[in-house]
Amino acid sequence: MSTDDGPEGLTLVGSTEQSTRTDIAGDVRVGLTSMPKWLPCIYFYDDAGSELFEQICELPEYYPTRTERSILETHADALVAHVQHRVDLVELGSGSATKTRLVVEALLRRHGELRFIPVDISRSILEESSRSLVEDYDRLEVHAVAGEYHDGLDYLKQQGAPPRLILWLGSNVGNFQRPDATHFLQRLHSTMRAEDRLLIGIDLRKEATVLEAAYDDAAGVTAAFNKNLLTRLNADLSADFDLDRFVHQSRWNAAEGRVEMHLVSQGRQSVCIKGIDLTVEFEDGESIHTENAYKYSAEEIESLATSAHFEAECQWLDEAQRFSVNLWKPRS
Ligand code: TRP
Repeated sequence: MSTDDGPEGLTLVGSTEQSTRTDIAGDVRVGLTSMPKWLPCIYFYDDAGSELFEQICELPEYYPTRTERSILETHADALVAHVQHRVDLVELGSGSATKTRLVVEALLRRHGELRFIPVDISRSILEESSRSLVEDYDRLEVHAVAGEYHDGLDYLKQQGAPPRLILWLGSNVGNFQRPDATHFLQRLHSTMRAEDRLLIGIDLRKEATVLEAAYDDAAGVTAAFNKNLLTRLNADLSADFDLDRFVHQSRWNAAEGRVEMHLVSQGRQSVCIKGIDLTVEFEDGESIHTENAYKYSAEEIESLATSAHFEAECQWLDEAQRFSVNLWKPRS
């Protein structure tokens, strides 16, 4: 752990390594020797992956970011008014924290000053976004935590802290399997007190064409993001994936209610992963399943809240009802 004293109003704590607790060697061995093959999505977010993800957010096909932003633009003051206490603002997976600014500004309008605690796995993006926040807002103090969600949860367990508004935006909950989403939210709930609130952005079920395009854009940025996983294995584990022999694919799986991202092998091939002494054989058309983005109906959102011991206080949707922003309070 390290503490940096950056510009006034900014502290950054966390590991200086990309990630301390993850075991890329073990995870890759398990995933690529499974049938069907898969890789854990956490490895998307090295610095290059986080940059590519920021580009995804600007794509015309990728509606979630834009839609969530417009909901926050319209309702930031209303949602802040719902939170009666003077809160610290916490964000899990803050990334560039662009949308967060809307909430920051609304809280500053209401309370005059604010402490913001962003948690993100990419230290470089965390540092950059935190610096620019303290530069732009005089009365804002930023205490940044470089780490995974569980580091954020550990932070939240601190006793005696003021009430908080916890943001979990971007439908990141959708990247968990449904039972795991419930389980993670239960753990989050266990760190919260009665005055705390959770603001959670959840993407809604919709037509397959819209969903598949959102995860397979014409410019190929999502493909590059997906393939960055292979670049990372080449670099970190001395693998010899030929990026031209894997094709990015997004598939709407209606039965599961999720968009799946795959890397599909073009032709039979074998890939050598020197760093873990493993050779992996691919059939033509065989895929590595790299990510899921689960979509929720109104009923599924309700039951997610209930099963994780929350009560929905308010919900905001865009006009086209593509995306939802939900304010939840813990049930005791
Ligand atoms: N949670 C967002 C979503 O599911 C962001 C995201 C996670 C994403 N992994 C992704 C977006 C892969 C595109 C591709 O949409």
